[in-house]
Amino acid sequence: MAAHPTLSNAAACVFDAYGTLFDVSRLAEPCRVQIGDKTEALVRLWREKQLQYTWLRSLTGVHTDFWHVTGEALDYALAAINVDDPHLRSMLMQLYLEPPLHADAAATLSAIKGKRLRTAILSNGSTTMLAGAVNGHNLRSVLDLVLSVDEVQVFKPHPSVYKLATDKLGLAADRILFVSGNGWDAHAARHAGMRVAWINRLGLPRETLPSPPDFEIKSLSELPPLLGL
Ligand code: LAC
Repeated sequence: MAAHPTLSNAAACVFDAYGTLFDVSRLAEPCRVQIGDKTEALVRLWREKQLQYTWLRSLTGVHTDFWHVTGEALDYALAAINVDDPHLRSMLMQLYLEPPLHADAAATLSAIKGKRLRTAILSNGSTTMLAGAVNGHNLRSVLDLVLSVDEVQVFKPHPSVYKLATDKLGLAADRILFVSGNGWDAHAARHAGMRVAWINRLGLPRETLPSPPDFEIKSLSELPPLLGL
């Protein structure tokens, strides 16, 4: 099968982690008994605050790693639903070390890796968090590189994060297909010159930001055909 014309010279496929390969929306399921019907609200607010805090820290120049930001966001979210339970907090944080994998992730990575394209993760996640998630799901063998913003000390969407991928892969940005389930991340990677596929699993409206993604697909399983694999 021929690759999509704009992807015929793609040499690497670079994936966002949380929300793309790992399904953070299901993260708190093991704690549903303790949290009850506030589980969805907690998970949604936790994720929203986690992202907001990364953006705010990058703008103010006060960096800390994603593990700490994730904990600070969780503290806010727990307070918002009036829960004060250090044991529950600790359990929820541990779940971030081995988040659930999206059902289409492992097969897609296996289909791409080694077939003329290199594969990588480029994530806000700390090195330790990403190691837990990748090793916990036996993904090491289907990934050439796992890149954490720890190396640049600033979060997405700062351009130096996307430059980390081009530098480490030794590729021009337009030879990389960046794949993200986070719309804002997709726009930022496109702004950095990458080809971009936005995984829009929930049928959300497009972000009204500059540099729209090249492709909008519903599932990771649509990637191998796009790449001609
Ligand atoms: C990441 C965030 C955006 O993995 O989910 O970089």
